[in-house]
Amino acid sequence: MANNEEVFKKIISHAKEYGFIFPSSEIYDGMAAVYDYGQNGVELKNNIKAYWWKSMVQYHENIAGIDSAIFMHPTIWKASGHVDAFNDPLIDNKDSKKRYRADVLIEDHVAKIQDKINKEVDKAAARFGDAFNEQEFRSTNQRVLDNQAKIDAINKRFYKSLEKEDLADVKLLIEELGIVCPISGTRNWTDVRQFNLMFSTQMGSVSEDTNQIFLRPETAQGIFVNFLNVQKSGRMKIPFGIAQIGKAFRNEIVARQFIFRMREFEQMEMQYFVRPGEELKWFEYWKQERINWHLSLGIPQSKYHFHDHEKLAHYANAATDIEFEFPFGFKELEGIHSRTDFDLSAHQKHSGKKLQYFDPELNESYVPYVIETSIGLDRTFLAVLSYAFKEEKLEDGSERVVLNIPPVLAPVKIAVLPLVAKDGMPEKAREIMDVIKHDFMCRYEEKDSIGRRYRRQDAIGTPYCITIDTQTLEDNTVTIRERDTMKQDRISIEKISEIVGKRIKNL
Ligand code: GAP
Repeated sequence: MANNEEVFKKIISHAKEYGFIFPSSEIYDGMAAVYDYGQNGVELKNNIKAYWWKSMVQYHENIAGIDSAIFMHPTIWKASGHVDAFNDPLIDNKDSKKRYRADVLIEDHVAKIQDKINKEVDKAAARFGDAFNEQEFRSTNQRVLDNQAKIDAINKRFYKSLEKEDLADVKLLIEELGIVCPISGTRNWTDVRQFNLMFSTQMGSVSEDTNQIFLRPETAQGIFVNFLNVQKSGRMKIPFGIAQIGKAFRNEIVARQFIFRMREFEQMEMQYFVRPGEELKWFEYWKQERINWHLSLGIPQSKYHFHDHEKLAHYANAATDIEFEFPFGFKELEGIHSRTDFDLSAHQKHSGKKLQYFDPELNESYVPYVIETSIGLDRTFLAVLSYAFKEEKLEDGSERVVLNIPPVLAPVKIAVLPLVAKDGMPEKAREIMDVIKHDFMCRYEEKDSIGRRYRRQDAIGTPYCITIDTQTLEDNTVTIRERDTMKQDRISIEKISEIVGKRIKNL
């Protein structure tokens, strides 16, 4: 088993053991790709939302937030293209009766070839040491070049077949590549067919009168259909943005990788409305803004990269993903898309209502162009959690599991710990707790030795532990212990909130 796979398993079980994430409906054996957030998970999730909301809505005077309903008029999904085109190509293995996404089978095959290239590069790097020039090696080594050519040819053919809706050729490609079902080991495949990812339900109590409606697969459409409401009521001038955080639902077929691909998840999306012709300038601007947001969390740049889309969706004229290095490799965390005037024009057409902006500087009306930033909340949670998870060997030979969560996001900011549960220390600790809990999420603990309590707080990522000891009772000072360095210093009780506030700000 690959090392990263083991680490990933540890992260998943740590998340459950320490109240971050539980499988949904666990006592009924769970549901695939649906998860519940526990007492620490919900705090981390809320803190991520607040951090994003602040950076988008509070820090930008020209971005307004909304919270639109999940149920929307069904024609919205016709206009957006989701009814006709929000599909995954599926294929079944006739022997195992297992269903797969055809694109994932092909991607996994390509990943195996990529692995061969990476192994070749690693071997050469070990052989040549400091003198190794990776770029030169990749552009001259015949085995690397041959494998890269194979990858390029597969991708080119696959994209072309999808573009032409030639699902027979997708099946042919799977057969030609010799891809076998991981369960049955056979190549006995059905034809490939398209499967719509939207969940649907009925609205209304009388079945004959019911209307089929959809659970939204993205929050963005709630923003588009409110574009004029927000613009008019907020007297917004272009360029301006509308931001929203909310649930989205997709009937994902390949349910794996924990909370990376869920059927019910949350998105944090922002649509930025701009003058036609200026969209690519704003696309570059938001690319930079968004990567800076990620880096502001203190996670190193090497964990992120941009993946520009070669194959653009029919409505986009530029698109990139911010990919994060999850334990299972670099994968999409956020999408930044230049969506032209596709959505507003489509809603204008389907609703028969004008969705135009009168630009006083140009003295003309137009349908604005849109730059979208769309980040998965659960994926951000997984990125933060998997980066934070560390197993450390300490100088005294002992070990600890610590979550180096950025303090601003940590579920609990301060643990309040009487050194022993007697001699007036618990009472003093409670007194302190009652004051500082108004400023920060705090947790009081008096059970077990102080060392074990520190470890428990490390394991949930609490950045500061305040300990009340005999000296506290004499001079109103406490020790403050930092999670990452485990260093302690003494501070006065009145300064706790001020000092912790400053340290969190200086991240
Ligand atoms: N409005 C644009 C849009 O929805 P997307 O690339 O389909 O674009 C945006 O989704 C983000 O939502 C992704 O980058 C990812 O972080 C998150 N996301 C998408 N599907 C998801 C799923 N099944 N589970 C968890 N997060 C998901």
